[in-house]
Amino acid sequence: LLMKNFKQFLVLFVSALSVGFVSIVFVIRWVLYFKEGLAWDGGLAEFNWHPLLIVIGFIFLQGIAIIVYRLPWTWKCSKLTMKCIHAGLNILAFILVVVSLVAVFDFHNAQNIPNMYSLHSWVGLAAVILYALQLVLGLAVYLVPATPGFVRAALMPVHVYSGLFIFSSVIATALMGITEKLIFGLKDPKYKDSPPEAVFVNVLGVLLSIFGGLILWIATRPDWKRPSDNQLRLAHSDDLTPAPGANGSTAMTTSAGDPTGQEGGGEARRRGGGKAEDTAARISI
Ligand code: HEM
Ligand code: HEM
Repeated sequence: LLMKNFKQFLVLFVSALSVGFVSIVFVIRWVLYFKEGLAWDGGLAEFNWHPLLIVIGFIFLQGIAIIVYRLPWTWKCSKLTMKCIHAGLNILAFILVVVSLVAVFDFHNAQNIPNMYSLHSWVGLAAVILYALQLVLGLAVYLVPATPGFVRAALMPVHVYSGLFIFSSVIATALMGITEKLIFGLKDPKYKDSPPEAVFVNVLGVLLSIFGGLILWIATRPDWKRPSDNQLRLAHSDDLTPAPGANGSTAMTTSAGDPTGQEGGGEARRRGGGKAEDTAARISI
């Protein structure tokens, strides 16, 4: 199907994917090469699960989940399929986030470091709680078949806004966490002396900001929104319908005058599509 400015979309999508992958490589190199590695021992190697799982889950997977409806090659998939992918990616991200919080709380308790004293931890925990709420509400409103259409439609602007708000808060929280960790962790030389680790991890923070910026841009272009089932149906029948006035027929009676000479195929496609549309109409929001 057609998308306006498809090339521009593709460039931004590939950039987001690349910046996301590089961020994951950076955080892995940080914890394995500059830091203590990974373990579950109550020490610093256990803390390291915290940034790693946050970057993979809360930033990368959530970012992809947010724009997954906008990939034009998925527009032929049913809305239900795409909802399951969108929800599934967000659930996977949430599981990784929970493990990452267990790691940092467990580390603090083992080391007798106080809990929840920093702005980072306040904004971060708030984002996690709102994310859990968004997840449960999303499932109840958009996946439970009994939820009436007007409820789905009324809550959609809230769902989109809160999703983008939570995602932005997560990027901000990550930047605060990175800054704290560099100040706490670099002793000799210190952060202000710009050792290689400081420069490397500053770059990670810049990459995370760019990733966030790309996802927010892609997710807010009106032209790139997944078309409604109604729009998809119209686009589909345009393919099969002669230009208006070509032979006086309407969309309902085109098979006799189909200029593509593929009446059989066209009919079958239209009928096949009809069943999907009946289903889609019920779950279209
Ligand atoms: C601590 C959440 C990302 C570094 C914490 C705590 C929470 C939290 C709730 C408090 C743990 C406690 O009180 O025992 C989050 C969330 C993130 C995130 C939701 C999502 C973006 C990061 C990143 C780093 C980081 C990317 C980078 C290393 C730290 C550090 C602490 C910490 C150093 C211990 C000091 C403190 O409590 O502020 N995080 N974090 N965080 N986090 Fe994060
Ligand atoms: C759309 C975020 C969970 C159903 C969106 C959008 C965002 C978002 C930002 C706008 C996407 C766009 O305009 O292309 C989130 C976040 C979630 C979450 C952060 C998890 C915490 C869910 C769940 C469902 C769901 C569990 C249940 C199926 C939908 C639907 C749309 C949507 C139906 C509309 C897609 C369209 O434009 O056609 N979500 N969402 N979301 N979300 Fe979620």
